[in-house]
Amino acid sequence: MSLFRLASIKNSEITPREIFQARRKIIKASLGFTAAAFLPTAANAEKKPFETVPVGPYSGDFPVTDYEDVTHYTNYYEFTTNKTGSTVLAQALKTKPWQVEVSGEVDKPGVYHLEDILKQNPLQERIYRFRCVEAWSMVVPWIGFPLADMLKAFKPTSRAKFVEFTTVYQPENMPGQRNKSLDWPYTEGLRIDEAMHPLSFIATGMYDDELPKQNGAPLRLVVPWKYGFKSIKAIVKIRFTETMPQTAWNKAAPDEYGFYANVNPNVPHPRWSQARERILGAGLFASKRDTEMFNGYAEYVAPLYKGMDLSKYI
Ligand code: MTE
Repeated sequence: MSLFRLASIKNSEITPREIFQARRKIIKASLGFTAAAFLPTAANAEKKPFETVPVGPYSGDFPVTDYEDVTHYTNYYEFTTNKTGSTVLAQALKTKPWQVEVSGEVDKPGVYHLEDILKQNPLQERIYRFRCVEAWSMVVPWIGFPLADMLKAFKPTSRAKFVEFTTVYQPENMPGQRNKSLDWPYTEGLRIDEAMHPLSFIATGMYDDELPKQNGAPLRLVVPWKYGFKSIKAIVKIRFTETMPQTAWNKAAPDEYGFYANVNPNVPHPRWSQARERILGAGLFASKRDTEMFNGYAEYVAPLYKGMDLSKYI
């Protein structure tokens, strides 16, 4: 098979049809369940639950991005800094078997098999806006489950104030890890209330299909109100901490990347503006759109940062 052919295959072409359809049924069934779970409070009764809103307040006035664009323009420094290169290079990543090591301030530390995590967390679909710090944006239908559901099962203690995530270290298959472009393995972190927010999501699939390796298989974080680099791929470790963990980008360039990384059009990156964004797939000459505070999710997440100076806590 030529490299070009490999790069242009959709995962749905290589997943046996019956498995694909069975999975779709599970997703449909769990959609009904989780939508109901969002309804009880008076505040939520007014709003549609996240899971059933295909486009609207969550994805805004631009449509779901083409699968081809989302899978052929990725950021995955463990493979390459070239955005089209990981589509092919990432296929070398070994994702089976997969385990997640949970440690730190939790009552149930341990090494969890991905299959067991998946059994405990019914799949849902979330259509989210995604905004890269490099000023391009997209809308992706992710499949997965709320991060909070997974984390609560590990029983964090009252001292757990932050959560640190770590990407797999597989230098034999990840050529980028053989050089020092970042301090490997890639790590990211969230404050515990950010991690427990209902918008924070673990994706194990997208577009009704498995998560492609270049997009972070077998499981990645999606935090839609933060710049894309917070959404760490191929997670193998979760550590609950009392103090703020370091993150890969903060270590690499502390003047450019803070811990919070909330999408904020009013605070430019030191080397470029964040006021506007290019829509992925719209073409280089298409007009840009205004970047929205918290990527359009302010109504849901602004209270997390009440009283904080967001030009200081970048
Ligand atoms: N996770 C790891 N492990 N390595 C990376 O280089 N890049 C981040 C984030 N997660 C990255 C990562 C950046 S900069 C972005 S914008 C998003 O992944 C891109 O997600 P996508 O490639 O699925 O669009």
